[in-house]
Amino acid sequence: MFTDKVVLITGASSGIGAACALAFAKSSATLSLVGRNLDNLSKIGKLCEKLNHIKPLLIVADVTSDTDLDKIVEDTANKFGKIDVLINNAGINSVPETHSSAETYDRVMATNVRATYLLTTKATPYLLKTKGNVVNISSILSNKPLPIMTPYCMSKAAIDMLTKCTALQLGPRGVRVNAVNPGPVKTEMFKRGGMSETNCDRMFAGIEMSAPLKKTTKGEDVAELVMFLASDRATCITGSCYVIDCGLMLGDADNL
Ligand SMILES: NC(=O)c1ccc[n+]([C@@H]2O[C@H](COP(=O)([O-])OP(=O)(O)OC[C@H]3O[C@@H](n4cnc5c(N)ncnc54)[C@H](OP(=O)(O)O)[C@@H]3O)[C@@H](O)[C@H]2O)c1
Repeated sequence: MFTDKVVLITGASSGIGAACALAFAKSSATLSLVGRNLDNLSKIGKLCEKLNHIKPLLIVADVTSDTDLDKIVEDTANKFGKIDVLINNAGINSVPETHSSAETYDRVMATNVRATYLLTTKATPYLLKTKGNVVNISSILSNKPLPIMTPYCMSKAAIDMLTKCTALQLGPRGVRVNAVNPGPVKTEMFKRGGMSETNCDRMFAGIEMSAPLKKTTKGEDVAELVMFLASDRATCITGSCYVIDCGLMLGDADNL
C-alpha cells in the first residue's frame, strides 16, 4: 500500500510511534524514523527492515530543538528525495505532581505543540510536491478535561485546532491533514510520567472494566487508523480528528 512512499515518523523509538513504524514497514513504506534514544530507535529500525527489506533512515533528534527539526526534514529529503507522509507522534504527558510548574508547561507545549507546528511547516514544501499528507497524534484528552493533566489536555486541544487550520490552508494545494485521538494506550508514557508499574496496571484494569468494549486500545490499533488516514483510501478526508478509545468517551455502559 505504501510502496515507494516516504513516511517520516517522530517518536518512532517507543509506543505508538514504534507500532506505526512496524505497520508502515509491513505495508512496504520507506521509513525515516525519529527519536532521542538511539538504542531503541535501532531496535525498531531493525524490525522494520526485517519486514520490508528497506533500511530505514534513523534520525536521533530532539523535536524541541529548531536545529534538530531542520535536520529531520533535510536528512529525510537528502536521503530519499521526498516526503509523502508526516506522522507527528512524539509527545510527553504532564506529571500530576508538577503539572502546575512553568517548566512542565513549557516542556509539554514545546514537545507536543511547538514541534508539531514547526515540523509541519518545515515539511510543507516537500508535502506540496508529493501531494502528501500529515497525521497528528492527538488524544481523547483534547476534548475531555482532566485537571490533573491540564497542560497535556491543553496541548492536545491545540493539536486538534492545528490539524484543522493546516488542513484548511493546505487542502486547496492537495495536502491532507488529519488527527488520531487515542484513548489510553499502555506505553512507556505513563512510567515516564512517574507512574509505577503497579499503578499503571491497576489504572488500565479499571479502564478495561469501564470501557464499553471492555478492552483498551493498543498501539497496533492506533497504527491501523493512522495508516488508513495516510493512505489513498482516505483521499476525501481532511481536517478530521478520529477518536479511537474502545468507546471510553461514551461513558460507562454498566451505569446507564
Ligand atoms: N499512551 C497513551 O495513552 C496515549 C493516548 C493518547 C495519545 N498519546 C500520544 O501518543 C504519542 C506517543 O506516545 P506514547 O504513548 O507512544 O509514549 P512513549 O512510549 O513514551 O513514546 C513517546 C515517543 O516520543 C518521543 N519523544 C518524546 N519527547 C521527544 C523529544 N523531545 N524529541 C524527540 N522525540 C521525543 C520518544 O522518544 P525517545 O524515547 O527516543 O526519547 C518516544 O519515541 C504522544 O503524542 C502521546 O501524547 C498517547
